Amino acid sequence: MTLRLRRINLNDRREALLTQRFARNNFLLNYGTRHDIFERAHVDDFVDVYTSWLGVSRPYKDMRFVTISGQPVGHLWMMFRPKSAWVENLFITAAYRGQGVGSKTLRMAENMALRQGYVSVFVGSAASNLDSRRFYEREGWKIIGQSGRRSLRWRKSLATHADKRIA
Ligand SMILES: CC(C)(COP(=O)(O)OP(=O)(O)OC[C@H]1O[C@@H](n2cnc3c(N)ncnc32)[C@H](O)[C@@H]1OP(=O)(O)O)[C@@H](O)C(=O)NCCC(=O)NCCS
Repeated sequence: MTLRLRRINLNDRREALLTQRFARNNFLLNYGTRHDIFERAHVDDFVDVYTSWLGVSRPYKDMRFVTISGQPVGHLWMMFRPKSAWVENLFITAAYRGQGVGSKTLRMAENMALRQGYVSVFVGSAASNLDSRRFYEREGWKIIGQSGRRSLRWRKSLATHADKRIA
């Protein structure tokens, strides 16, 4: 299976719709409620609101589809801020879960950060999502605290990647 990360073009209607669908499902799955931003009836509204809300056009945003044989099966949104790298949104569609796609995608995210010189990567996850908790734990991430009542904050040190690279 050839897994790639392809940049999302939110100006392309089909890609924006798919992004909205993935993000909506992800939020619903993790928090059990809808989030207004992902529920816009018109994709243009979603793109406009999302763009201003999260600053998609800012240079530190990096939004990719996870593709297998060219087909999007999920997405990875990264934020490469001046002092920290973040996995902002990671989603794999139900049919492709539990086959190592998420794990490979996360490693690719970590390597993107490593190549840009970051020493660690952060992510926030829903505290109630025990599946994703198991997932990050198994991938070597550590809980470093809470963010609000419903979210956990995780960190992965990239030192081991660097060691491997030097070796
Ligand atoms: C969490 C997620 C990204 C993992 O991707 P994946 O491709 O299923 O992960 P992998 O196949 O590499 O690893 C499987 C592990 O992921 C976890 N997992 C989470 N949800 C899962 C699901 N629905 N089915 C199977 N495994 C799941 C399990 O810990 C599993 O480990 P196990 O085999 O010991 O049970 C993906 O399941 C997903 O998108 N889930 C819904 C959205 C979500 O929770 N995103 C994380 C937000 S921070």
